[in-house]
Amino acid sequence: TKPPVVVTVTGAAGTIGYAALFRVAAGAMLGRDQPVVLRLLELPGAISAAEGIAMELDDCALPQLAAVEIFDDPRAAFDGVNQVLLIGAKPRSKGMERADLLSANASIFATQGAALNEVAAPDVRVTVVGNPANTNAAIAARHAPDIPRERFSALTRLDHNRAIAQLSHRAGVPVTEISGVTIWGNHSATQYPDIFHARAGETTGAELARDREWLVDDFIPTVAQRGSAIIAARGASSAASAANGTIDHVQTWALGTPGDSWTSAAIVSPGAYGVPEGLVCSFPVRSDGTDWQIVEGLEINEFSRARIDASVAELEAEIAAVDALATR
Ligand code: NAI
Repeated sequence: TKPPVVVTVTGAAGTIGYAALFRVAAGAMLGRDQPVVLRLLELPGAISAAEGIAMELDDCALPQLAAVEIFDDPRAAFDGVNQVLLIGAKPRSKGMERADLLSANASIFATQGAALNEVAAPDVRVTVVGNPANTNAAIAARHAPDIPRERFSALTRLDHNRAIAQLSHRAGVPVTEISGVTIWGNHSATQYPDIFHARAGETTGAELARDREWLVDDFIPTVAQRGSAIIAARGASSAASAANGTIDHVQTWALGTPGDSWTSAAIVSPGAYGVPEGLVCSFPVRSDGTDWQIVEGLEINEFSRARIDASVAELEAEIAAVDALATR
């Protein structure tokens, strides 16, 4: 049997953590033949809840689950870690200013990036889910100068999956017949779900996009504001679908994209598609099972360019706000 992969999940006792852990432990992320050691990192106040989850994981008697360990110290939780899911973050509370939210999270992700830099395994891969996910990933990467920055990515796979589901409904074809969708930009309401290179069965995304009213007033806002719609309906934010997107993201990264298909992930921009270098921006990506590669050479029309630029401007403003707070 293979040696176990060490997976650390932060915010393990939160709602996404709870929805993700059992599937990771059952082999949905890295394969049913891959043993995993699960490390649960939580705030001291949630350690008891994490212990309860560990009891439940135990009670599943899962063959792939080699061990469950619980931590409230990032350095201990990240020691020798291979796969890191940074889910825990500070939520926006009532009356909290946006700047306070950015700065609270910047400090969490700076600390965690620095700890990863010191103790993570040489092959570590980091997936940031906690919001603001793109900027949190940029900050973690900055504080881990010895880890190649390509090893940090942030989740836009949930948005990508949302776009696939909406296209499938529109075109009346199963999700398996949808390809070539891209989420560009920030994991926020400014994100741009691009269907101009997509296919939905026999129909091309460009054909569907000719109905501008549907594209602009229905498809794009439905995908970009799905999180709020779920909070309004459910009274709680997306958790199972976010956990599912996280598992899909890591699975694609670790096992690769089939054929010439692609997906979406936020990665450190190398300056591609006019996105300033260093921003963590969502792109069309493939994985060879080791690293993400940006799908090159897609033609970006004027409509798409304006939407991508708007989301990139928001990413620049987030980083600038964090930097301004740091130097104050
Ligand atoms: P939650 O509030 O239920 O759980 C968060 C957990 O993180 C809590 O148990 C808390 O104790 C823990 N935590 C906070 N700071 C921590 C730290 N420094 N170290 C370790 N643990 C820490 O929140 P939920 O619903 O699980 O969401 C988690 C994050 O994921 C939020 O920031 C949310 O906005 C984000 N999210 C991202 C999505 C994406 O597609 N990128 C989609 C949905 C949510």
